[in-house]
Amino acid sequence: MEQTLIIVKPDGVARGLIGEVIRRFEARGLRIAKLSLVDAPKETVESHYDEHRSKPFFADVVAYLTSGPIAVMAVEGPNAVTACRAMMGATNPADAAPGTIRGDFALSLEENVVHGSADPESAHRELGIWFP
Ligand code: CDP
Ligand code: MG
Repeated sequence: MEQTLIIVKPDGVARGLIGEVIRRFEARGLRIAKLSLVDAPKETVESHYDEHRSKPFFADVVAYLTSGPIAVMAVEGPNAVTACRAMMGATNPADAAPGTIRGDFALSLEENVVHGSADPESAHRELGIWFP
């Protein structure tokens, strides 16, 4: 069994998409192992996006993730990391296939509804940040 860290970002929460995101993962056969609705501290989001510290969009993505409540969850199942990434679709919703979360619910790269860990190592690190 594998766990991955999924976040419904502030735009997703504000638009009432928490249930839709969870429904899709559960329908696939994945289990919501942990779930928390939080106003994330800036420092937590900064360490979550540590790999992007030097990127030009870092300040903006941190501001976005702290702009409202987010739903943070550990999603569990066989190959949960890869399965969730595939169900999320491409980072830029313009490239995300219909049928994916971003392909069905987002149009903007900055506000793309969900986060999902990129690989098992990232999942382990991110789960440790949000569920210490
Ligand atoms: O979220 P994902 O792992 O698919 O993409 P990422 O490359 O790890 O980027 C993290 C997040 O930063 C994205 O989901 C976008 O919300 C944001 N981002 C952005 O605003 N502008 C970019 N050029 C790249 C990413
Ligand atoms: Mg990423």
